[in-house]
Amino acid sequence: MMREVLFAPSLLSADILDVRSSIAALRGEHDWLHVDVMDGVFVPNITFGPGFVSALRKRYPVEVLDVHLMVEHPDRLIDSFLDAGSDYLTVHLEADRHIHRTLTMIRERGARAGVSINPGTPEELLRPVLPLADLVLVMSVNPGFGGQSFIPSALEKTKSLCRWREASHYNYRVEMDGGIGWGNAAEIALAGCDVIVMGSAVFGAQDPALFLQEIKLNVKEAIAHA
Ligand code: DX5
Ligand code: ZN
Repeated sequence: MMREVLFAPSLLSADILDVRSSIAALRGEHDWLHVDVMDGVFVPNITFGPGFVSALRKRYPVEVLDVHLMVEHPDRLIDSFLDAGSDYLTVHLEADRHIHRTLTMIRERGARAGVSINPGTPEELLRPVLPLADLVLVMSVNPGFGGQSFIPSALEKTKSLCRWREASHYNYRVEMDGGIGWGNAAEIALAGCDVIVMGSAVFGAQDPALFLQEIKLNVKEAIAHA
C-alpha cells in the first residue's frame, strides 16, 4: 500500500477573530488541526492557552487536535492541555529536563505523546525517548512565528528518524513544521515525513481547500514516481 502523508494546517495563520471561518475554508481537506502554544519565554511570542483547545474540542468533536507546546516546563501544563481535549500533545526536548517522565505521563493519560526538536538540536539526543513517542516533530524553522524560511537540515534529521524507526520497530510518526509550502512539500514527503504542518501556505492561499487538494496530489505523485 502507498505511504500516506497527512496534512496539518496550523491555526497560527488562521484569522484569529474568525477561526471558525478559517477552519470552514479547509472544507475537510485537512487531516489534523495543528495548534501552536507559545509562552513568550521558550519562544518570543504568545498564542493560545488550554481554553482555546477546549473551545475547539467542543465545536469540533472529531477533529484530531495536534497541540504543539512551545513552552518552558511543559510538565506543568500537560494536565490542562489534556483535559482540554488534545489528541496529540507535543513537548520540546529543549524545554523539559524530564522529558522521559513527561512523555510517559501523556501516554498514561491516554493521549499520544509527541517530542520536538529545534533546528539547533541534534536528532541523536532523541534516541533514549524514541520508544515513548507516538510523534516526533522536527522543526524546520526556529519556532515562534509563521512565514519563516525553511531550514533544510530538517530533511536529514527526518531520514535518520525513519531509519531508526525501521531498525528498531518503533511506531512514531515523523512530523515537520515550519517554512513548508508548494515548493518543498514533495521533497519533504520523499525524505520520509509522515505529517506536514503548514500555516501561511494554507491560510494564505486564495482557496485553502483547493490548495490542500493540489498539494496532496502533488505529494502523492512524487511518492508514486519515487
Ligand atoms: C512555528 C510554528 C509553526 C508555524 C508554521 O513556530 O510551530 O507551526 O505555524 O508556520 P509556516 O507554515 O507559516 O512556517
Ligand atoms: Zn507548530
